[in-house]
Amino acid sequence: MPRRNELIVAGIIFLLLAGKVFAGEASGAREFKDHCARCHGTDAKGNGPDAHEKPGYRPADLTQITKRHGGQFPRREIYDIIDGGKRMPGHYNFNSPMPLWGLSFQLEGKEYSDESEAAVKGKIEALLDYLESIQEK
Ligand code: HEC
Repeated sequence: MPRRNELIVAGIIFLLLAGKVFAGEASGAREFKDHCARCHGTDAKGNGPDAHEKPGYRPADLTQITKRHGGQFPRREIYDIIDGGKRMPGHYNFNSPMPLWGLSFQLEGKEYSDESEAAVKGKIEALLDYLESIQEK
């Protein structure tokens, strides 16, 4: 029955494509839960189980970013803080336990390739969408 085989093949191709689409799309909520909640807390208010990992540092309350910036979510600035490449000494110094996600999110074995940089950017942008969505007014 050739018809049936065609359907099965079409089904398999569909599943492969669907899997690829879902795997490629970074979900900000999931990234946050996996990478940020241990310090910033599942509610992002800064009280995760590892919040006191380093004496003298407290994870920021990430629901108050817009409020602290005069009602505007400073997307570019927060991107740079998460990425880590532009942290200023005195403000975000390199003793801070806040990880440099621009390094941590690189694809293993393909670090700094275009593909890897795109993956890093995708994750940070997804995280920014998520953070923007949880801002308290
Ligand atoms: C090991 C603990 C830790 C983890 C994990 C962590 N952070 Fe942080 N984060 C901090 C600390 C501590 C600060 C406060 C900055 C400082 O004191 O240097 C901070 C600050 C920030 C800030 C600055 C907020 C502001 O308004 O100034 C942002 C944004 C942020 N974190 C986002 C994230 C995101 C997104 C993740 C996950 C991808 C994450 N953090 C994971 C500890 C952590």
